[in-house]
Amino acid sequence: MQVIELSHPLKSHYLTILRNENTNSEEFRAYATKLSYLLFIEGTKNISLKEKNITTPLVDTKGYEVENDSVAISVLRAGLGLIDGVKELLPNVSFGYIGVQRNEETAEPEYYYENLPDLNDKNVFILEPMLATGGSLSFAIDKVKEQKPKDIIALTVISAPEGIERLEKEHSDVTLITGNIDEKLNESWYIVPGLGDMGDRLFGTT
Ligand code: URA
Repeated sequence: MQVIELSHPLKSHYLTILRNENTNSEEFRAYATKLSYLLFIEGTKNISLKEKNITTPLVDTKGYEVENDSVAISVLRAGLGLIDGVKELLPNVSFGYIGVQRNEETAEPEYYYENLPDLNDKNVFILEPMLATGGSLSFAIDKVKEQKPKDIIALTVISAPEGIERLEKEHSDVTLITGNIDEKLNESWYIVPGLGDMGDRLFGTT
């Protein structure tokens, strides 16, 4: 599995604000969006372009436009925090949603919702901000693989080594782009140092 950890100084700045327990939900959402731009710029480095002839005020010239072949799938609910960057940066992207919540006793994923566009031959970006045990992301990838996408790229804000290890075993063909690889999971399967519960912090719930 290809794992890319962002190394841009802005990601360190944004992530520090996201980690800080004193950051309120409004600020948290704004900085999650900023980080989503950095993740998505990295994630779209290899998408395809087609040529397009245009005329500048001076001459005819050749330009490019991105192919209409990308889908972003948000793993509910925390994945909603990353869709703004995708929406702004990529024209013609379609969106899909997978609802998976983790069972707080076993940490295993429980599936409750799905709404997916056609994924065949598409670049599929899966937005799952916190890669903890890897259960939800691995489950979402299984769902995506029921169709035949061209590429699967998972975007996470923070990843735990335990989750990366699981993904490497179960989905070595996927690319993972993460803001940061943190230290470990604690006994309640939260990422340490982490940022707490991403969904709660985004939506002001506890
Ligand atoms: N999900 C979260 O929101 N935070 C964690 O630390 C782990 C899973």
